[in-house]
Amino acid sequence: MEFSFVNPTKIIFGQGQIANIQHEIPQSAKVLVIYGGGSIKQNGIYQQVTDALSEHQVFEFSGIEPNPSYETAMRAVAQIKEHNIDYLLAVGGGSVIDGTKFIAAAAKFDGEPWDILAKAAEVTDALPIGVVLTLPATGSESNSYSVVSKLDTNDKLPFASEKVQPKFAVLDAQVTKTLPERQLANGVVDAFVHVMEQYLTFDHGAKVQDRFAEGLLHTLIEDGPRVFAEPDNMMVRENLMWSATMALNGLIGAGVPQDWSTHMLGHEVTALYGLDHAQTLAIVLPRMMNAMRQQKEAKLLQYAERIWGITEQDKNLAIDQAIEKTEAFFHSVNMPTRLSDYQLDEKVADAVVEQLERHGMTELGESQQVTLDISRAVLKASV
Ligand code: NZQ
Ligand code: ZN
Repeated sequence: MEFSFVNPTKIIFGQGQIANIQHEIPQSAKVLVIYGGGSIKQNGIYQQVTDALSEHQVFEFSGIEPNPSYETAMRAVAQIKEHNIDYLLAVGGGSVIDGTKFIAAAAKFDGEPWDILAKAAEVTDALPIGVVLTLPATGSESNSYSVVSKLDTNDKLPFASEKVQPKFAVLDAQVTKTLPERQLANGVVDAFVHVMEQYLTFDHGAKVQDRFAEGLLHTLIEDGPRVFAEPDNMMVRENLMWSATMALNGLIGAGVPQDWSTHMLGHEVTALYGLDHAQTLAIVLPRMMNAMRQQKEAKLLQYAERIWGITEQDKNLAIDQAIEKTEAFFHSVNMPTRLSDYQLDEKVADAVVEQLERHGMTELGESQQVTLDISRAVLKASV
């Protein structure tokens, strides 16, 4: 095992903590508050942010859409250049945070910023970012990843740079009270699949990463359904919020093999058909587990036993049961798991494979064993 680990994002956790952002952003900063479609204006978060920054010089950019677009982000870059903005505050979910990360890099980029995604051009500088998280799901609030879409070409591509890692993130679970049930479910499923992409590979003996991952899976399985049954239970909301952050902040993935094939297929499904990010993951993951059951056998059996308490001795039957339990868990938070639930059919398979090929994603997974043929078969089986 070999890794270096640092997570420089300061987490400010708890109720009423939005007020503290005034101490995190330099007094002299020209701040651009970046947000999405306006939910923060209806639920009081906008007001809390405005009150907290009453002594700062503040500008605003709204309209970052779910699955943030390059086109919208570039309008923010123009505003930044016009007003010499030097600090970005993202107030929203993964889309607003990811959009802000791209904006932060693009504002300092020499050349065509889309190259950061399309050609993996290096990000050498970026504006500092702070975050007020409104939707626990992606982990974007304390990682260095961002996923941005180009609308005119149906591209949805990730980039990573330590330069765009947020300086701080406020996690006040009160803000999740206005989330529609669909977005709550998205958050639970996205966090769960993030853990799975880093855990369900092969046996490597890194016990700390495994046990932390299993702790997060247990928490999501226990408290995911409870957030619907007990919407006023703040502890449940706080557990989910912290789980989602911990699921993708570098800790459980340090020094271990990682998969991410479910995510890459899912991103293409979103780019082509507009499904929410987590909706695509719930469709792909069970079939990917099934398709890779030989390569992942040892870890699938560990998952079956430790997460679901499956005692079946026949290995294949135990893996079948673990996959069924996984799908049933998604259903328990009202998350559909089939393409046909969205009126999509097996034509999706060829269309997604064409996109994967165009994006060079022809050998996915921890052992580069998810070929285009396997991706096609996974999607055909997901109808
Ligand atoms: O636009 P606003 O008004 O903010 O409304 C949003 C949006 O419509 C709404 N919402 C957010 N907080 C709310 C709220 N509504 C009421 N009350 C609140 N407190 O929810 C809707 C969805 O928001 P979005 O940010 O799109 O959701 P999510 O956090 O699931 O982010 C998804 C994006 O993140 C990317 C996905 O691909 C997708 O583009 N990901 C980013 C990752 C990362 N940076 O590490 C990893 C993930 O795997 C993922 O790929
Ligand atoms: Zn995800």
